[in-house]
Amino acid sequence: MKHIGNLIGRGGRRAIHRLMTRDTTATHKLAKFDEFKTLDEPHLKAMKEGAEWLTSAMLRHESPRWLTLLGPSGTGKTYLARMIYRIARNNLMGYEGRDGWPHTRLMRWINWRKFCDLIRGGDYTRTEFVIDPWMAVLDDIGAEYDPSGFLTSKLDRVINERLRKWTVVTCNLSLEEISSKLDRRIASRMIRDGNKVIEVNATDFALRGEG
Ligand SMILES: Nc1ncnc2c1ncn2[C@@H]1O[C@H](COP(=O)(O)OP(=O)(O)OP(=O)(O)O)[C@@H](O)[C@H]1O
Ligand SMILES: [Mg+2]
Repeated sequence: MKHIGNLIGRGGRRAIHRLMTRDTTATHKLAKFDEFKTLDEPHLKAMKEGAEWLTSAMLRHESPRWLTLLGPSGTGKTYLARMIYRIARNNLMGYEGRDGWPHTRLMRWINWRKFCDLIRGGDYTRTEFVIDPWMAVLDDIGAEYDPSGFLTSKLDRVINERLRKWTVVTCNLSLEEISSKLDRRIASRMIRDGNKVIEVNATDFALRGEG
């Protein structure tokens, strides 16, 4: 009879070793966002807490959820989303999902406007590129010119199929505007299943002379 070690192979043994030796307390401590200035402003504090909430849950291997950051230009939405992405990537390097794929290979940063240009150009395979990843940031949705509603229908599909996958969304519209200008179902999915929406109403960082 073959030894169990031979049956699971070297890759499997490495994965088991990682699972047995991982220290979730240590990774949890790393989910800090000190570079993000809150300037004692409630909206900025809420954004930072939201980022800590999502990232800590991700590093503790909890069930997937979403964080949506809404608000005017220059309020740090993309800046914070980049930090979340970087922290997750750095801390999850080497971990494998249930399907055996490394998490970090399944993380994608999507510049939504560029993505829309590709879709407009007929590259439909790209939709799967956004739906499939274990974790994705959809940066700056809702800013695209879309009189026919074609891009909104693509967004609707992506949003629907990304439920229960780690997702960070940034957008200039309010939840109310997402509901009226894009689609009510998109707004509804942003707040369901324990997902969190943070609406920020702060001054553009460039106008503060910060940063
Ligand atoms: N809270 C913050 N702490 C430190 N720097 C910040 C903060 N918020 C914004 N900045 C600075 O302002 C720049 C612009 O912010 P960012 O691109 O994240 O804005 P945004 O909210 O995504 O705007 P837009 O809606 O136009 O995409 C950042 O690159 C960063 O240098
Ligand atoms: Mg942005």
